[in-house]
Amino acid sequence: MYIQSTIISNDSLPKEMRSLLDGETNWIANCSNFSSLLFYALKDINWCGFYILDGDELVLGPFQGKPACIRIPMQKGVCGTAAYSRKTIIVDDVNEFPGHIACDVDSRSEIVIPLEYKGRLLGVLDIDSSKLARFTEQDAIVLQHLCSILIDNCSWPEL
Ligand code: SME
Repeated sequence: MYIQSTIISNDSLPKEMRSLLDGETNWIANCSNFSSLLFYALKDINWCGFYILDGDELVLGPFQGKPACIRIPMQKGVCGTAAYSRKTIIVDDVNEFPGHIACDVDSRSEIVIPLEYKGRLLGVLDIDSSKLARFTEQDAIVLQHLCSILIDNCSWPEL
């Protein structure tokens, strides 16, 4: 039922996400299901997952897609840049982003959303597409909303 939907038209994603996370606060379980729901809900996605803050760098968290690089230093790649700036980054063409870290050669565009709780950086959500310019500002708004649902539903470790 999710596979045909697109991120912009799917107004039910927040509701689906809430019901998927309901009654569970374990961040690993919830991030795992979060990445799976999005991976199968969104069109033209080849990777969807988390990098979690670990000391002064990011470490691979729950994801869907091909195996990916494990550690990303702060300010490096799209993920490290979004984490450091705490701003969502949309990359229309990954080959045009200086320092982009290629994990899956199929990836052509990418969106990274920082996750914060009470001013504390938790990590980032990273989504890749094999299509150029797959992600829009509207996608960013929807994904930020979904991330806020996730953040509010989890007990986060002391990072
Ligand atoms: N492209 C990311 C690395 C993570 S993978 O895309 C899964 C980056 O440049 O930070």
